[in-house]
Amino acid sequence: MQKLIIQGGLPLHGEISISGAKNAALPLLCAALLTEEPLKISNVPALQDIITMVSLLKQMGVHETEHGNGEMVLSAAALTHPVAPYEMVKTMRAAILVLGPLLARAGEAEISLPGGCAIGLRPVDQHIKGLQAMGAEIAIRHGYIHAVTKKLRGARIVFDIVTVTGTENLMMAATLAEGTTILENAAREPEIIDLANCLNAMGAKIHGAGTDIITIEGVSSLHGAEHTVMPDRIETGTFLVAATATGGEIHLKNTDAQLLDAVLDKLTEAGARIDSATNWIKLRMRTKPKSVNIRTAPYPAFPTDMQAQFMSLNCIADGTAIMTETIFENRLMHVQELKRMNANIEVEGNAAIVTGIAQLDGANVMATDLRASASLVIAGLVAQGETVIDRIYHLDRGYENIEGKLSALGAQIQRIQ
Ligand code: UD1
Repeated sequence: MQKLIIQGGLPLHGEISISGAKNAALPLLCAALLTEEPLKISNVPALQDIITMVSLLKQMGVHETEHGNGEMVLSAAALTHPVAPYEMVKTMRAAILVLGPLLARAGEAEISLPGGCAIGLRPVDQHIKGLQAMGAEIAIRHGYIHAVTKKLRGARIVFDIVTVTGTENLMMAATLAEGTTILENAAREPEIIDLANCLNAMGAKIHGAGTDIITIEGVSSLHGAEHTVMPDRIETGTFLVAATATGGEIHLKNTDAQLLDAVLDKLTEAGARIDSATNWIKLRMRTKPKSVNIRTAPYPAFPTDMQAQFMSLNCIADGTAIMTETIFENRLMHVQELKRMNANIEVEGNAAIVTGIAQLDGANVMATDLRASASLVIAGLVAQGETVIDRIYHLDRGYENIEGKLSALGAQIQRIQ
């Protein structure tokens, strides 16, 4: 199993380019299932989750050609096997995103119940409820979702809770349904707008993506298109937190400050100076960070995918912060690992009370999920001495070439077998 070794204490300095967004690319790949014609997607990040999703699509009959440089063409001329087996789905919850497109295009789907990060129960009841309202017959047998329909029909669906992939799944399914679908209490994440833009370029009729009411007028078929994946706002935020925590100065290219208002506000509150224009962000940190309280909530509020990274920052900040996780019930697993590095953190229910200390100690730690891994990397960068992070396959699911990018910023980081 691979590990990362970090020698802490060096401020990050320099310029790197941000990759395409994992959470936008995954649903975009699934959108290829909706048409017989080729879909060309650019700026696809080189990540384990993308490899897993492409393998899943290929075993369904999708033809894929890579042109290098993050460009990929997917062609679903014939869907021979509308099945997502357990072995492929267990590592990546986003595999549930094939359910809506398969039902809409092929009229059937057999999908293993998803796995992914162990950050909570993460049920898929909202996906199922929505597809049933659109006329699908769905049964759960032996850990698989079995879904069939003659033809999906438009429906008004009110989500009980805000779900990102739930909104994306139903939005994709509704593009080929008969009649109009209205999704209420929809998620408003920028990745949903990116997907809607691609689907509209394929001939779909979607209005209101990015608001909590999305209207989709079904069409009889979709056609091929070209689309560029939006920048990864979580990768962007992770590097900005790392630069703030280490007292560095970095310039991030190919990103968009407007995607992460809530995160930039918190970094400013912590003491960072931030400048940005349409496609870059610069951050400079000259002082010791101040503690910042965090409460995660659906977009545009503070993202749960940035909570763990800010916890590492709070570990070495001036003051005490209350960090409340409201989206996932088990997303404080990094606390135990940060405590191994001497952090002062108390957990009460879904909140962590973090009191900053002068310095973290390097230690052997274990990555437990994707964003928790990122928090351990940040902790390792600021700690005194050496930190060894085990189980970094979690990190490879969502960060493209993280040690390469951090090395380019002056970090001492190395991957070993
Ligand atoms: C997506 C992101 C993930 C992010 C999360 C929240 C992708 C590929 N992943 O995950 O990085 O952390 O949004 O911003 O885009 N829920 C239900 N029933 C459902 C669906 C969800 O109860 O049918 C609950 C979940 O357990 C969770 C909450 O709703 O507590 C939000 O989950 P959701 O938005 O669906 O997360 P994902 O789409 O899986």
